[in-house]
Amino acid sequence: MFWSSTLVLSALWSAHTAAQTQRPSVIGVILTNQTLLASATGVYNTSQTPSNLPWNTYNYCNAPHVNAEHYTVPEIKDAKLVYLNTVIRHHKRTPDNLYPEENSLNAIPWDCTDFEQFSYGGPGAAQVFHNTDIPAWHPFLSTIWNGTCDEGQLTRGGLEDAVTHGKDFWSVYSGKIGFLNSVNEKDIFLRTSVETRTMQVASGLLVGMDKSMATKTFPVTTQPSPIDSIPPNYPCNKASDVRNAYQSVPAWNDHLEQNIDLQNKLGEMLGTTGLSAWTSWYDHFFDTFTSRTCHGHPLPCNTTTGECVSDQDARTVFSIGDFEYNYIWSNAENATTYNQLTFGVFLQELAMNFQLFRDGGESYKLRFYVGHDGSMIRLISALGLGAAAPLRWPSLGSELVMEVWESKSQGGRFVRVLHDGTEVPALKWVSLDSFIELVMSQVPADVFAECNSA
Ligand SMILES: *[C@@H]1O[C@H](CO)[C@@H](O)[C@H](O)[C@H]1NC(C)=O
Ligand SMILES: *[C@@H]1O[C@H](CO)[C@@H](O)[C@H](O)[C@H]1NC(C)=O
Ligand SMILES: *[C@@H]1O[C@H](CO)[C@@H](O)[C@H](O)[C@H]1NC(C)=O
Ligand SMILES: *[C@@H]1O[C@H](CO)[C@@H](O)[C@H](O)[C@H]1NC(C)=O
Ligand SMILES: *[C@@H]1O[C@H](CO)[C@@H](O)[C@H](O)[C@H]1NC(C)=O
Repeated sequence: MFWSSTLVLSALWSAHTAAQTQRPSVIGVILTNQTLLASATGVYNTSQTPSNLPWNTYNYCNAPHVNAEHYTVPEIKDAKLVYLNTVIRHHKRTPDNLYPEENSLNAIPWDCTDFEQFSYGGPGAAQVFHNTDIPAWHPFLSTIWNGTCDEGQLTRGGLEDAVTHGKDFWSVYSGKIGFLNSVNEKDIFLRTSVETRTMQVASGLLVGMDKSMATKTFPVTTQPSPIDSIPPNYPCNKASDVRNAYQSVPAWNDHLEQNIDLQNKLGEMLGTTGLSAWTSWYDHFFDTFTSRTCHGHPLPCNTTTGECVSDQDARTVFSIGDFEYNYIWSNAENATTYNQLTFGVFLQELAMNFQLFRDGGESYKLRFYVGHDGSMIRLISALGLGAAAPLRWPSLGSELVMEVWESKSQGGRFVRVLHDGTEVPALKWVSLDSFIELVMSQVPADVFAECNSA
Protein backbone atom coordinates (compact mmCIF):
# COMPACT_ATOMS: atom_id res chain seq x y z
CA MET A 1 0.00 0.00 0.00
CA PHE A 2 2.74 2.45 0.89
CA TRP A 3 5.10 3.07 -1.89
CA SER A 4 8.35 4.96 -1.99
CA SER A 5 9.02 7.28 -4.86
CA THR A 6 11.57 7.35 -7.57
CA LEU A 7 14.57 9.56 -6.97
CA VAL A 8 13.21 11.99 -9.48
CA LEU A 9 10.17 12.67 -7.40
CA SER A 10 12.13 12.77 -4.18
CA ALA A 11 14.22 15.52 -5.68
CA LEU A 12 11.19 17.41 -6.84
CA TRP A 13 9.48 17.22 -3.52
CA SER A 14 12.51 17.91 -1.42
CA ALA A 15 12.55 21.41 -2.89
CA HIS A 16 9.26 21.80 -1.14
CA THR A 17 10.19 20.45 2.21
CA ALA A 18 12.62 23.16 3.25
CA ALA A 19 9.76 25.55 3.83
CA GLN A 20 7.47 23.04 5.50
CA THR A 21 7.41 22.73 9.22
CA GLN A 22 3.98 21.60 10.25
CA ARG A 23 2.52 18.51 8.68
CA PRO A 24 -0.96 17.56 9.74
CA SER A 25 -1.68 13.87 9.49
CA VAL A 26 -4.61 14.65 7.23
CA ILE A 27 -2.12 14.98 4.40
CA GLY A 28 -0.79 11.51 3.78
CA VAL A 29 2.65 12.55 2.63
CA ILE A 30 5.50 10.87 4.43
CA LEU A 31 8.52 13.01 5.07
CA THR A 32 11.89 11.90 6.36
CA ASN A 33 14.60 14.50 6.74
CA GLN A 34 15.55 15.67 3.26
CA THR A 35 14.23 12.59 1.54
CA LEU A 36 10.62 12.94 0.78
CA LEU A 37 9.18 9.55 0.18
CA ALA A 38 6.81 11.17 -2.20
CA SER A 39 3.72 9.79 -1.73
CA ALA A 40 0.85 8.57 -3.68
CA THR A 41 0.51 6.82 -0.37
CA GLY A 42 -3.01 5.78 0.30
CA VAL A 43 -5.79 3.94 -1.45
CA TYR A 44 -6.60 4.11 -5.15
CA ASN A 45 -8.52 0.93 -5.85
CA THR A 46 -11.57 0.77 -3.59
CA SER A 47 -14.14 3.07 -1.96
CA GLN A 48 -13.75 1.11 1.29
CA THR A 49 -10.54 2.02 3.10
CA PRO A 50 -9.14 -1.29 4.43
CA SER A 51 -9.75 -1.58 8.17
CA ASN A 52 -6.05 -2.06 8.95
CA LEU A 53 -5.43 1.54 7.85
CA PRO A 54 -6.33 4.66 9.83
CA TRP A 55 -9.90 5.78 9.02
CA ASN A 56 -8.68 9.08 7.60
CA THR A 57 -6.10 7.59 5.24
CA TYR A 58 -6.04 9.40 1.90
CA ASN A 59 -8.42 7.44 -0.31
CA TYR A 60 -8.65 8.82 -3.83
CA CYS A 61 -11.74 6.72 -4.62
CA ASN A 62 -13.74 7.95 -1.65
CA ALA A 63 -12.31 10.56 0.67
CA PRO A 64 -12.73 10.37 4.42
CA HIS A 65 -15.37 12.84 5.68
CA VAL A 66 -17.01 13.89 8.94
CA ASN A 67 -18.79 10.99 10.63
CA ALA A 68 -20.22 10.37 14.08
CA GLU A 69 -17.59 7.83 15.07
CA HIS A 70 -14.63 10.19 14.65
CA TYR A 71 -16.18 13.60 15.13
CA THR A 72 -15.39 15.65 18.19
CA VAL A 73 -16.84 19.01 19.17
CA PRO A 74 -14.47 21.89 19.99
CA GLU A 75 -13.05 21.87 23.52
CA ILE A 76 -15.08 24.88 24.57
CA LYS A 77 -17.78 23.89 27.02
CA ASP A 78 -20.49 26.36 26.09
CA ALA A 79 -19.81 26.34 22.32
CA LYS A 80 -22.92 25.91 20.21
CA LEU A 81 -22.99 25.27 16.48
CA VAL A 82 -24.91 28.05 14.75
CA TYR A 83 -24.07 27.93 11.02
CA LEU A 84 -22.60 25.56 8.49
CA ASN A 85 -21.17 25.70 4.95
CA THR A 86 -19.83 22.61 3.21
CA VAL A 87 -18.15 22.06 -0.13
CA ILE A 88 -17.47 18.60 -1.53
CA ARG A 89 -16.25 17.04 -4.75
CA HIS A 90 -18.62 14.64 -6.49
CA HIS A 91 -18.04 10.90 -6.03
CA LYS A 92 -16.59 8.33 -8.40
CA ARG A 93 -17.35 8.29 -12.10
CA THR A 94 -16.27 6.83 -15.41
CA PRO A 95 -13.18 8.36 -17.07
CA ASP A 96 -13.57 11.95 -18.20
CA ASN A 97 -10.84 11.53 -20.80
CA LEU A 98 -10.69 9.03 -23.63
CA TYR A 99 -7.66 7.52 -25.35
CA PRO A 100 -7.67 7.95 -29.14
CA GLU A 101 -8.37 4.21 -29.45
CA GLU A 102 -10.32 3.86 -26.24
CA ASN A 103 -12.21 0.68 -27.09
CA SER A 104 -9.31 -1.74 -27.13
CA LEU A 105 -7.91 -0.35 -23.88
CA ASN A 106 -10.74 -1.76 -21.78
CA ALA A 107 -10.60 -5.43 -20.85
CA ILE A 108 -14.15 -5.23 -19.55
CA PRO A 109 -17.09 -3.05 -20.59
CA TRP A 110 -18.37 -0.13 -18.48
CA ASP A 111 -21.78 -1.11 -17.15
CA CYS A 112 -24.25 1.58 -16.10
CA THR A 113 -27.47 -0.43 -16.44
CA ASP A 114 -27.77 -0.29 -12.64
CA PHE A 115 -28.26 3.48 -12.67
CA GLU A 116 -31.16 5.06 -14.55
CA GLN A 117 -30.42 8.53 -15.85
CA PHE A 118 -33.49 10.66 -15.21
CA SER A 119 -33.96 13.98 -16.93
CA TYR A 120 -37.35 15.45 -17.59
CA GLY A 121 -39.40 18.63 -17.67
CA GLY A 122 -41.40 18.82 -14.48
CA PRO A 123 -43.93 19.10 -13.14
CA GLY A 124 -46.51 17.63 -15.44
CA ALA A 125 -44.17 15.65 -17.66
CA ALA A 126 -43.32 11.98 -17.80
CA GLN A 127 -40.26 11.04 -15.77
CA VAL A 128 -38.11 9.86 -18.65
CA PHE A 129 -34.66 8.41 -18.15
CA HIS A 130 -32.09 7.53 -20.75
CA ASN A 131 -30.04 4.41 -21.27
CA THR A 132 -26.72 4.79 -23.04
CA ASP A 133 -26.35 2.48 -26.01
CA ILE A 134 -23.04 1.81 -27.72
CA PRO A 135 -23.92 -0.21 -30.81
CA ALA A 136 -21.34 -2.72 -32.02
CA TRP A 137 -21.86 -1.46 -35.59
CA HIS A 138 -21.18 2.17 -34.70
CA PRO A 139 -18.48 3.41 -37.11
CA PHE A 140 -16.76 5.25 -34.24
CA LEU A 141 -16.83 2.32 -31.81
CA SER A 142 -13.02 2.29 -31.62
CA THR A 143 -13.12 5.67 -29.82
CA ILE A 144 -15.31 4.60 -26.90
CA TRP A 145 -15.47 1.62 -24.56
CA ASN A 146 -18.09 -1.09 -24.83
CA GLY A 147 -20.98 -1.10 -22.42
CA THR A 148 -23.66 1.32 -21.27
CA CYS A 149 -21.81 4.29 -19.76
CA ASP A 150 -21.07 7.75 -21.04
CA GLU A 151 -17.77 9.46 -20.24
CA GLY A 152 -17.57 11.27 -16.89
CA GLN A 153 -20.76 9.61 -15.68
CA LEU A 154 -21.37 9.04 -11.98
CA THR A 155 -21.54 5.28 -11.43
CA ARG A 156 -23.80 3.29 -9.13
CA GLY A 157 -20.81 2.96 -6.80
CA GLY A 158 -20.37 6.73 -6.85
CA LEU A 159 -24.03 7.26 -6.03
CA GLU A 160 -23.80 4.80 -3.14
CA ASP A 161 -20.75 6.66 -1.80
CA ALA A 162 -22.78 9.88 -1.99
CA VAL A 163 -25.63 8.30 -0.01
CA THR A 164 -23.17 7.14 2.66
CA HIS A 165 -21.64 10.60 2.70
CA GLY A 166 -25.05 12.15 3.34
CA LYS A 167 -25.77 9.60 6.06
CA ASP A 168 -22.48 10.31 7.82
CA PHE A 169 -22.95 14.06 7.52
CA TRP A 170 -26.39 13.73 9.09
CA SER A 171 -25.11 11.44 11.81
CA VAL A 172 -22.98 14.34 13.00
CA TYR A 173 -24.95 17.51 12.37
CA SER A 174 -28.33 16.06 13.21
CA GLY A 175 -27.65 12.96 15.32
CA LYS A 176 -24.66 14.01 17.35
CA ILE A 177 -25.07 17.78 17.52
CA GLY A 178 -28.77 18.22 16.87
CA PHE A 179 -28.09 21.31 14.76
CA LEU A 180 -30.18 20.18 11.80
CA ASN A 181 -33.43 18.42 12.49
CA SER A 182 -35.09 17.92 9.16
CA VAL A 183 -34.19 17.93 5.51
CA ASN A 184 -36.12 20.87 4.11
CA GLU A 185 -35.70 23.69 1.62
CA LYS A 186 -35.92 26.34 4.32
CA ASP A 187 -32.87 25.19 6.27
CA ILE A 188 -30.74 23.72 3.51
CA PHE A 189 -29.44 25.45 0.39
CA LEU A 190 -27.88 23.14 -2.16
CA ARG A 191 -25.79 24.34 -5.07
CA THR A 192 -24.08 22.22 -7.70
CA SER A 193 -22.29 22.74 -10.99
CA VAL A 194 -24.27 22.13 -14.18
CA GLU A 195 -22.72 18.68 -14.56
CA THR A 196 -25.28 15.93 -14.12
CA ARG A 197 -22.96 14.04 -11.78
CA THR A 198 -22.92 16.84 -9.20
CA MET A 199 -26.74 16.94 -9.15
CA GLN A 200 -26.87 13.17 -8.87
CA VAL A 201 -24.50 13.36 -5.92
CA ALA A 202 -26.78 15.97 -4.34
CA SER A 203 -29.69 13.57 -4.78
CA GLY A 204 -27.70 10.79 -3.10
CA LEU A 205 -26.66 13.04 -0.21
CA LEU A 206 -30.28 13.99 0.45
CA VAL A 207 -31.39 10.37 0.66
CA GLY A 208 -28.46 9.62 2.96
CA MET A 209 -29.69 12.43 5.21
CA ASP A 210 -33.33 11.33 5.04
CA LYS A 211 -34.53 8.12 3.37
CA SER A 212 -37.93 9.64 2.61
CA MET A 213 -36.26 12.04 0.18
CA ALA A 214 -36.15 9.14 -2.30
CA THR A 215 -39.73 9.93 -3.31
CA LYS A 216 -39.52 13.72 -3.00
CA THR A 217 -38.27 16.65 -5.02
CA PHE A 218 -35.68 19.15 -3.84
CA PRO A 219 -34.23 22.15 -5.68
CA VAL A 220 -30.53 22.62 -6.30
CA THR A 221 -29.25 25.98 -7.49
CA THR A 222 -26.90 26.32 -10.47
CA GLN A 223 -25.36 29.21 -12.37
CA PRO A 224 -25.37 29.38 -16.18
CA SER A 225 -22.52 27.22 -17.47
CA PRO A 226 -20.51 30.07 -19.12
CA ILE A 227 -20.21 31.92 -15.80
CA ASP A 228 -20.50 29.07 -13.30
CA SER A 229 -18.10 29.85 -10.46
CA ILE A 230 -17.97 26.29 -9.14
CA PRO A 231 -15.86 24.26 -11.62
CA PRO A 232 -14.92 27.27 -12.23
CA ASN A 233 -16.04 28.01 -15.76
CA TYR A 234 -16.04 31.76 -16.28
CA PRO A 235 -13.48 33.00 -18.82
CA CYS A 236 -10.33 34.65 -17.52
CA ASN A 237 -7.60 35.40 -20.06
CA LYS A 238 -5.34 36.95 -17.47
CA ALA A 239 -5.45 33.79 -15.36
CA SER A 240 -4.55 31.65 -18.36
CA ASP A 241 -1.57 33.90 -19.09
CA VAL A 242 -0.37 33.74 -15.51
CA ARG A 243 -0.65 29.95 -15.43
CA ASN A 244 0.98 29.50 -18.84
CA ALA A 245 3.92 31.52 -17.58
CA TYR A 246 4.51 29.42 -14.49
CA GLN A 247 4.07 26.23 -16.47
CA SER A 248 6.88 27.36 -18.79
CA VAL A 249 9.66 27.51 -16.22
CA PRO A 250 12.05 24.81 -14.93
CA ALA A 251 10.07 24.42 -11.69
CA TRP A 252 7.41 22.87 -13.93
CA ASN A 253 9.28 21.66 -17.01
CA ASP A 254 11.87 19.71 -15.05
CA HIS A 255 9.36 17.12 -13.88
CA LEU A 256 8.21 16.52 -17.45
CA GLU A 257 11.78 16.10 -18.65
CA GLN A 258 12.79 13.91 -15.74
CA ASN A 259 9.86 11.58 -16.36
CA ILE A 260 10.15 11.55 -20.14
CA ASP A 261 10.81 7.79 -20.27
CA LEU A 262 7.53 7.11 -18.52
CA GLN A 263 5.74 9.59 -20.81
CA ASN A 264 7.15 7.89 -23.91
CA LYS A 265 6.34 4.42 -22.66
CA LEU A 266 2.74 5.37 -21.83
CA GLY A 267 2.42 7.23 -25.13
CA GLU A 268 3.40 4.19 -27.18
CA MET A 269 1.25 1.84 -25.15
CA LEU A 270 -1.85 4.04 -25.08
CA GLY A 271 -1.56 5.89 -28.38
CA THR A 272 -1.13 9.35 -26.89
CA THR A 273 2.29 10.22 -28.28
CA GLY A 274 2.44 13.82 -29.46
CA LEU A 275 -0.99 14.76 -28.13
CA SER A 276 -0.41 17.83 -25.96
CA ALA A 277 -3.48 17.18 -23.79
CA TRP A 278 -1.65 14.03 -22.62
CA THR A 279 1.98 15.14 -22.77
CA SER A 280 1.77 18.61 -21.19
CA TRP A 281 0.79 17.12 -17.83
CA TYR A 282 -0.24 13.79 -16.28
CA ASP A 283 -3.84 14.80 -15.56
CA HIS A 284 -5.38 12.58 -18.22
CA PHE A 285 -3.32 9.52 -17.29
CA PHE A 286 -4.24 10.11 -13.65
CA ASP A 287 -7.94 10.27 -14.54
CA THR A 288 -7.98 7.29 -16.88
CA PHE A 289 -6.04 5.11 -14.42
CA THR A 290 -7.87 6.04 -11.21
CA SER A 291 -11.31 5.79 -12.81
CA ARG A 292 -10.43 2.24 -13.71
CA THR A 293 -8.82 1.20 -10.43
CA CYS A 294 -11.54 2.82 -8.29
CA HIS A 295 -14.08 0.64 -10.12
CA GLY A 296 -12.10 -2.57 -10.00
CA HIS A 297 -11.24 -2.38 -13.69
CA PRO A 298 -7.71 -3.39 -14.66
CA LEU A 299 -5.18 -0.79 -15.76
CA PRO A 300 -5.14 -0.53 -19.58
CA CYS A 301 -3.29 -3.08 -21.71
CA ASN A 302 -2.27 -2.66 -25.32
CA THR A 303 -3.84 -5.63 -27.09
CA THR A 304 -1.30 -5.52 -29.94
CA THR A 305 1.83 -5.70 -27.82
CA GLY A 306 0.29 -7.29 -24.73
CA GLU A 307 1.97 -4.62 -22.62
CA CYS A 308 0.05 -3.23 -19.65
CA VAL A 309 0.36 -0.17 -17.47
CA SER A 310 2.00 -1.56 -14.32
CA ASP A 311 0.99 -0.80 -10.73
CA GLN A 312 4.34 0.93 -10.35
CA ASP A 313 3.71 3.13 -13.41
CA ALA A 314 0.29 4.01 -12.03
CA ARG A 315 1.71 4.89 -8.60
CA THR A 316 4.28 7.13 -10.26
CA VAL A 317 1.52 8.85 -12.23
CA PHE A 318 -0.50 9.33 -9.02
CA SER A 319 2.52 10.84 -7.34
CA ILE A 320 3.21 13.16 -10.26
CA GLY A 321 -0.48 14.10 -10.21
CA ASP A 322 -0.12 15.22 -6.60
CA PHE A 323 2.96 17.23 -7.51
CA GLU A 324 1.18 18.92 -10.43
CA TYR A 325 -1.93 19.81 -8.45
CA ASN A 326 0.14 21.26 -5.65
CA TYR A 327 2.33 23.19 -8.07
CA ILE A 328 -0.44 24.64 -10.23
CA TRP A 329 -2.85 25.64 -7.49
CA SER A 330 -0.67 26.24 -4.50
CA ASN A 331 3.08 26.23 -4.76
CA ALA A 332 4.02 27.87 -8.07
CA GLU A 333 5.18 31.45 -8.08
CA ASN A 334 1.93 33.31 -8.95
CA ALA A 335 -0.31 30.33 -8.17
CA THR A 336 -2.04 32.57 -5.64
CA THR A 337 -2.85 35.09 -8.36
CA TYR A 338 -4.16 32.34 -10.62
CA ASN A 339 -6.26 30.94 -7.82
CA GLN A 340 -7.70 34.33 -6.88
CA LEU A 341 -8.62 35.09 -10.47
CA THR A 342 -10.22 31.74 -11.20
CA PHE A 343 -11.92 31.18 -7.85
CA GLY A 344 -12.50 34.76 -6.71
CA VAL A 345 -16.15 34.62 -7.71
CA PHE A 346 -16.86 31.52 -5.66
CA LEU A 347 -14.87 32.87 -2.72
CA GLN A 348 -16.92 36.08 -2.91
CA GLU A 349 -20.09 34.00 -2.60
CA LEU A 350 -18.63 32.13 0.35
CA ALA A 351 -17.61 35.34 2.12
CA MET A 352 -21.05 36.80 1.45
CA ASN A 353 -22.68 33.77 3.08
CA PHE A 354 -20.72 34.30 6.28
CA GLN A 355 -21.26 38.08 6.19
CA LEU A 356 -24.98 37.55 5.75
CA PHE A 357 -24.97 35.19 8.69
CA ARG A 358 -22.93 37.60 10.82
CA ASP A 359 -25.28 40.45 9.99
CA GLY A 360 -28.35 38.45 10.91
CA GLY A 361 -29.76 38.11 7.39
CA GLU A 362 -29.02 34.43 6.68
CA SER A 363 -32.11 32.22 6.50
CA TYR A 364 -30.32 28.93 5.84
CA LYS A 365 -28.64 26.83 8.51
CA LEU A 366 -26.61 24.94 5.94
CA ARG A 367 -25.27 25.81 2.51
CA PHE A 368 -23.96 22.73 0.79
CA TYR A 369 -22.02 22.84 -2.49
CA VAL A 370 -21.15 19.93 -4.77
CA GLY A 371 -18.31 20.67 -7.15
CA HIS A 372 -15.22 19.22 -8.76
CA ASP A 373 -11.56 18.57 -8.01
CA GLY A 374 -10.83 21.99 -9.52
CA SER A 375 -13.20 23.57 -7.01
CA MET A 376 -11.72 21.74 -4.01
CA ILE A 377 -8.07 22.37 -4.81
CA ARG A 378 -8.71 26.11 -5.26
CA LEU A 379 -10.74 26.31 -2.09
CA ILE A 380 -8.23 24.54 0.15
CA SER A 381 -5.40 26.50 -1.39
CA ALA A 382 -7.22 29.81 -0.89
CA LEU A 383 -7.76 28.98 2.79
CA GLY A 384 -4.04 28.40 3.18
CA LEU A 385 -3.97 24.63 3.64
CA GLY A 386 -0.98 24.44 1.31
CA ALA A 387 1.15 26.37 3.79
CA ALA A 388 1.23 23.43 6.19
CA ALA A 389 1.96 20.64 3.73
CA PRO A 390 1.89 20.02 -0.01
CA LEU A 391 -1.66 19.63 -1.24
CA ARG A 392 -2.72 16.38 -2.85
CA TRP A 393 -5.17 15.78 -5.66
CA PRO A 394 -8.58 16.21 -4.04
CA SER A 395 -10.16 12.78 -3.73
CA LEU A 396 -13.59 11.86 -4.97
CA GLY A 397 -16.04 12.97 -2.29
CA SER A 398 -13.36 15.19 -0.75
CA GLU A 399 -14.91 17.57 1.78
CA LEU A 400 -14.40 20.95 3.39
CA VAL A 401 -16.71 21.81 6.27
CA MET A 402 -16.82 25.33 7.70
CA GLU A 403 -18.60 25.44 11.05
CA VAL A 404 -19.56 28.59 12.96
CA TRP A 405 -19.69 28.17 16.74
CA GLU A 406 -21.03 30.62 19.27
CA SER A 407 -19.56 30.80 22.74
CA LYS A 408 -20.45 33.27 25.49
CA SER A 409 -17.38 32.35 27.52
CA GLN A 410 -15.15 33.06 24.52
CA GLY A 411 -17.12 36.17 23.71
CA GLY A 412 -18.25 35.64 20.18
CA ARG A 413 -18.53 33.47 17.14
CA PHE A 414 -15.75 31.31 15.77
CA VAL A 415 -15.12 29.27 12.66
CA ARG A 416 -13.72 25.77 12.70
CA VAL A 417 -12.71 24.11 9.43
CA LEU A 418 -12.53 20.36 8.84
CA HIS A 419 -10.87 18.93 5.74
CA ASP A 420 -11.71 15.35 4.78
CA GLY A 421 -13.12 14.84 8.27
CA THR A 422 -10.14 16.17 10.21
CA GLU A 423 -9.71 19.56 11.88
CA VAL A 424 -7.41 21.95 10.01
CA PRO A 425 -4.86 22.97 12.68
CA ALA A 426 -4.54 26.57 11.49
CA LEU A 427 -8.32 26.97 11.28
CA LYS A 428 -9.57 25.14 14.34
CA TRP A 429 -10.88 28.26 16.08
CA VAL A 430 -10.72 31.63 14.33
CA SER A 431 -13.10 34.50 14.91
CA LEU A 432 -15.88 34.81 12.39
CA ASP A 433 -14.59 38.22 11.34
CA SER A 434 -11.08 36.88 10.77
CA PHE A 435 -12.44 34.04 8.71
CA ILE A 436 -14.45 36.43 6.54
CA GLU A 437 -11.31 38.56 6.16
CA LEU A 438 -9.28 35.51 5.20
CA VAL A 439 -11.74 34.59 2.47
CA MET A 440 -12.12 38.19 1.28
CA SER A 441 -8.34 38.55 1.11
CA GLN A 442 -8.46 36.06 -1.79
CA VAL A 443 -11.14 37.95 -3.73
CA PRO A 444 -9.78 40.40 -6.33
CA ALA A 445 -11.28 43.90 -6.06
CA ASP A 446 -12.61 43.74 -9.62
CA VAL A 447 -12.24 40.20 -10.89
CA PHE A 448 -14.15 40.90 -14.12
CA ALA A 449 -11.86 43.78 -15.09
CA GLU A 450 -8.75 41.86 -14.07
CA CYS A 451 -9.73 38.77 -15.99
CA ASN A 452 -10.22 40.88 -19.09
CA SER A 453 -7.07 42.92 -18.64
CA ALA A 454 -4.82 40.48 -20.50
C1 LIG B 1 -5.46 -2.48 -3.93
O1 LIG B 1 -4.10 -2.22 -4.06
C2 LIG B 1 -3.31 -2.74 -3.00
C3 LIG B 1 -1.87 -2.39 -3.27
O2 LIG B 1 -1.71 -1.04 -3.44
C4 LIG B 1 -3.48 -4.25 -2.91
O3 LIG B 1 -2.78 -4.73 -1.80
C5 LIG B 1 -4.95 -4.59 -2.77
O4 LIG B 1 -5.12 -5.99 -2.82
C6 LIG B 1 -5.75 -3.95 -3.89
N1 LIG B 1 -7.17 -4.17 -3.63
C7 LIG B 1 -8.03 -4.47 -4.58
C8 LIG B 1 -9.46 -4.56 -4.16
O5 LIG B 1 -7.67 -4.70 -5.72
C1 LIG C 1 17.44 10.57 6.04
O1 LIG C 1 16.54 9.49 6.27
C2 LIG C 1 16.91 8.32 5.62
C3 LIG C 1 15.76 7.33 5.77
O2 LIG C 1 15.25 7.35 7.06
C4 LIG C 1 18.24 7.82 6.22
O3 LIG C 1 18.62 6.63 5.58
C5 LIG C 1 19.29 8.88 5.98
O4 LIG C 1 20.50 8.51 6.62
C6 LIG C 1 18.85 10.23 6.55
N1 LIG C 1 19.78 11.25 6.14
C7 LIG C 1 20.24 12.20 6.95
C8 LIG C 1 21.17 13.17 6.34
O5 LIG C 1 19.88 12.26 8.10
C1 LIG D 1 -16.24 -4.64 -27.66
O1 LIG D 1 -17.22 -4.75 -28.67
C2 LIG D 1 -16.72 -5.21 -29.90
C3 LIG D 1 -17.87 -5.20 -30.90
O2 LIG D 1 -18.95 -5.93 -30.40
C4 LIG D 1 -16.13 -6.60 -29.74
O3 LIG D 1 -15.53 -6.99 -30.95
C5 LIG D 1 -15.07 -6.57 -28.65
O4 LIG D 1 -14.60 -7.87 -28.38
C6 LIG D 1 -15.62 -6.00 -27.38
N1 LIG D 1 -14.56 -5.87 -26.39
C7 LIG D 1 -14.73 -6.22 -25.11
C8 LIG D 1 -13.56 -6.00 -24.21
O5 LIG D 1 -15.75 -6.66 -24.66
C1 LIG E 1 5.03 35.95 -11.69
O1 LIG E 1 4.50 37.22 -11.96
C2 LIG E 1 5.47 38.25 -12.08
C3 LIG E 1 4.71 39.56 -12.26
O2 LIG E 1 3.89 39.51 -13.37
C4 LIG E 1 6.39 37.94 -13.25
O3 LIG E 1 7.38 38.92 -13.36
C5 LIG E 1 7.03 36.59 -13.01
O4 LIG E 1 7.82 36.23 -14.12
C6 LIG E 1 5.96 35.51 -12.79
N1 LIG E 1 6.60 34.24 -12.45
C7 LIG E 1 6.38 33.10 -13.12
C8 LIG E 1 7.12 31.90 -12.64
O5 LIG E 1 5.61 33.01 -14.04
C1 LIG F 1 -0.48 -0.42 -29.06
O1 LIG F 1 0.89 -0.34 -29.33
C2 LIG F 1 1.20 -0.25 -30.71
C3 LIG F 1 2.71 -0.29 -30.81
O2 LIG F 1 3.29 0.71 -30.03
C4 LIG F 1 0.60 1.02 -31.27
O3 LIG F 1 0.85 1.09 -32.65
C5 LIG F 1 -0.90 1.03 -31.02
O4 LIG F 1 -1.45 2.27 -31.44
C6 LIG F 1 -1.18 0.85 -29.55
N1 LIG F 1 -2.61 0.69 -29.31
C7 LIG F 1 -3.39 1.66 -28.86
C8 LIG F 1 -4.79 1.30 -28.58
O5 LIG F 1 -3.03 2.80 -28.67
